[in-house]
Amino acid sequence: MWEYTDKVLELFYNPKNQGEIEETAEQNVKVATGEVGSIACGDALRLHLKVQVDTDKILDARFQTFGCTSAIASSSALTELVKGLTLDEALEVTNKDIANYLGGLPEAKMHCSVMGQEALEAAIFNYRGIEREVHDDDDEGALICTCFGISDTKIRRVIRENSLITAEEVTNYVKAGGGCGSCLATIDDIIKEVQRESALPIAAPASNKGGVATEIRPLTTVQKIALIQKVLDEEVRPVLLADGGDVELYDVEGDRVKVLLQGACGSCSSSTATLKIAIEARLRDRISQSIVVEAVEPLF
Ligand code: FES
Repeated sequence: MWEYTDKVLELFYNPKNQGEIEETAEQNVKVATGEVGSIACGDALRLHLKVQVDTDKILDARFQTFGCTSAIASSSALTELVKGLTLDEALEVTNKDIANYLGGLPEAKMHCSVMGQEALEAAIFNYRGIEREVHDDDDEGALICTCFGISDTKIRRVIRENSLITAEEVTNYVKAGGGCGSCLATIDDIIKEVQRESALPIAAPASNKGGVATEIRPLTTVQKIALIQKVLDEEVRPVLLADGGDVELYDVEGDRVKVLLQGACGSCSSSTATLKIAIEARLRDRISQSIVVEAVEPLF
């Protein structure tokens, strides 16, 4: 299903440096451990570093990972990248370095490289007795995605470091937005704020993509329905499907968009929020601010 590079497959089938590093009685050597993710969320990584105390040099690095092909390959790549570096040098290693070492990762799997970078920081900060959150100057501590426990700080950071311009990209990198979808509108707002702060490229409105429509001439009804269907298929349904739900376009009357919520969405107590925030906000952002989304009751 996923297109992996040869390097990813090589490190998945024959991972280098898998395992743990036990505490040692060796003189001048300490072991640092960092752990991120959770098995409940699908990925977890524990990284062990063997550090020469007087030089801060990483003598060995090993990992224990629960996760998919790219999580294991990213963890293995990380250990290869940091061996021989000092701790300060290792802190310069980014998720992009991990992905580059692997010859690239599928966009939807970039969160595995981010997990590697975070485990590395966690290990080094643990070793130095530093709270990771304290290290972020701009940490406002706001929890944005409750499904995956992702904070405002983490989202801003990954947007800045990887020049992300869409909420879908943020989902690919840190999973935020990939559950119920109710945080997607907030993620969009954060992207706009970061773009304003750092002059990142502004995402082109969907209405200007692919020649579907332009601002110059109003959409015809046929164009509008086609565009709504396209946004639902490409940007909304993948998020809902990941959470066991789905949505089907039922009808369009002017700016009223009627949809059928299905699966987990249809019976979910948060379906109203899913509708108003995830679907309506997305359609307003992409097509027209006056769109109103309504749920239609199924006939059976
Ligand atoms: S709150 Fe972010 S996906 Fe549910």
